Amino acid sequence: MNELDSLVTSAQALFAQSATPADLENAKAQFLGKSGRITELMKGMAALSVEEKKSRGAVINVAKQAIEAALNARRQALADAELETQLKAEALDVTLPGRMRMTGGLHPVSLTLERIEAIFGSMGFDVAQGPEIETDWFNFTALNTPQDHPARSMHDTFYVEGGSPEAPNLLRTHTSPMQIRHAVQHVKRYQALMDAGQVMPEIRVIAPGRTYRVDSDATHSPMFHQCEGLWVGENVSFKDLKVVFTDFYRTFFETDDLVLRFRPSFFPFTEPSAEVDIQFASGPLAGRWLEVAGSGEVHPNVIRNMGLDPERYIGFAFGMGTDRLTMLRYGVSDLRLFFDGDIRFLSQFQ
Ligand code: PHE
Repeated sequence: MNELDSLVTSAQALFAQSATPADLENAKAQFLGKSGRITELMKGMAALSVEEKKSRGAVINVAKQAIEAALNARRQALADAELETQLKAEALDVTLPGRMRMTGGLHPVSLTLERIEAIFGSMGFDVAQGPEIETDWFNFTALNTPQDHPARSMHDTFYVEGGSPEAPNLLRTHTSPMQIRHAVQHVKRYQALMDAGQVMPEIRVIAPGRTYRVDSDATHSPMFHQCEGLWVGENVSFKDLKVVFTDFYRTFFETDDLVLRFRPSFFPFTEPSAEVDIQFASGPLAGRWLEVAGSGEVHPNVIRNMGLDPERYIGFAFGMGTDRLTMLRYGVSDLRLFFDGDIRFLSQFQ
């Protein structure tokens, strides 16, 4: 092997050993740098004749090109390897299952409330909302419920801070305080009209929402939902209540095979009062009377507390348990399931 061939061989070997681009550039300098072996050989030609320069130069050039080719090949190999390492480090495991995007949905009790609002809305009822922390006045006194009424017992009612010692604030035990709150607003809005001798536009409203009582078993939860209804005008009778209710329950359960029974009862804020039972003609509950609401003609004292003259204005009110409706509609036997927050149960209603 001549001198130049072995030079090329040793360059190739050195390049092959260079593990990093920096090593490779150092190796390159030994051959092609300012005082590298090839450069030295070129310099060594200065003393040669023109003819000799030509032939010697050509041979050195072949060696130089071979070294450059080896250098470039190694440069490429190192760059490829580096890219490979980088890609490996940044690799994504595309076979990993992604994070699921769950679709949310409305709670079954909310679905029922929306349904109730839609049905009463179609009958011309407004929807009102009010506070869950109530004063003694709105929850009891204004509703003709005297101090010694059993509903005021500590055993039935969650009293909270605020109010006075004789009349502490409380978590509303029913949605009935909304009768007064809404009617007072309504009367205020139309007072000028009435003062001018005109008739007040009818109050026709429902007020759905959360209510609270000290009660807990399969069909009672300390927090539950009711929907209040109030229709007051000059001539709103029990007959209207019966029509509205029959219409509502048949629409809600999507069946005409359903009858209502008005069972005489007592509420301080209505007179006469009735509890409403429904009965399905077919299905798993056929033949059983199910209590669904309290109702009655609004008591004159309550009409007065609304700011109206009971000699002129009259109407009906009702309060329906909406959780009960949800249970009946979906065939759920334990009310508490609705409030446990178990996603396996709740997702069935979507
Ligand atoms: N507030 C009563 C209850 O919770 C229901 C009711 C409302 C009765 C309106 C009559 C009129 O039991």
